[in-house]
Amino acid sequence: MQICRSKQAMRDCVAEWRAEGQRVALVPTMGALHRGHLTLCERARDWLDAHGGGRLVASIFVNPTQFGPNEDLATYPRDEENDLRLLRQIGADAAFLPSVQDIYRPGAQTMVDVTGLSRMLMGRLRPGHFRGVATVVTKLFNIVGPDAAAFGEKDYQQLTVIRQMVADLDMPVAIIGVPTVREEDGLAMSSRNLRLTPQDRAAAPILARALDRAQAMVQAGSPLGAIRRELRALIAAEPRAEVRSIDIRDAADLSRIVTIDRPVVILLAVRFGTVLLIDQRVAHP
Ligand code: PAF
Repeated sequence: MQICRSKQAMRDCVAEWRAEGQRVALVPTMGALHRGHLTLCERARDWLDAHGGGRLVASIFVNPTQFGPNEDLATYPRDEENDLRLLRQIGADAAFLPSVQDIYRPGAQTMVDVTGLSRMLMGRLRPGHFRGVATVVTKLFNIVGPDAAAFGEKDYQQLTVIRQMVADLDMPVAIIGVPTVREEDGLAMSSRNLRLTPQDRAAAPILARALDRAQAMVQAGSPLGAIRRELRALIAAEPRAEVRSIDIRDAADLSRIVTIDRPVVILLAVRFGTVLLIDQRVAHP
């Protein structure tokens, strides 16, 4: 596996592969890799295999522009040695680990803003977050120039923002959405799970159980209001959980719905101590 620590090293590496006629797939991450990320790599590899083979790049970059002033940038988990070990194991061809200075040069003035989708839902709780995500993903796409890139459905709004950006800006990148990978007790895998206290970790699977119930209610034809009330009551019964938001939206574009007459996505944001966990489920009426 090649390790590229600068934009130039990454560009040189991809240029060689391109000269050999290889396709390239990218898995953008912020490191602290777990089985969820490795599944993104596997799906990106599947995409390459289905398109005649090619090279797989995983980027590891804790992107400062997607963290708000009171968020966890400084304490975000980092473990480069373990990340590189896992990427070697999964058979990645290159790891891209640029510095903040290399990615954000002084005096830069340009950001990418998907104006509608970025202001709703988690965008209200985390102003500027999706602008930071869209900007860094655009930069990674411009540096690596991938044919495809994989993102988790766990961050459903992020995936929707990226799909919209790629369509709006005619970016020639196929976006692979990858279903959420879960622990045995249902908790969605996330680097933030590492920061839960043992008591909060034990309580956190309430999110998955609440989503199971909501999905069953959608399938049974229950009205929107009843599902919201049930979700709120189920999560409130767990004293360690503090609900930040519960939303049921059109799964295609996250627009508001009045009745459930099409696929919907149920989105939860719940705090446990200082850690904000999100989870989602797509449900069909
Ligand atoms: O999902 C993430 O880990 C990040 O938001 C991403 C897509 C790597 C951009 O920094």
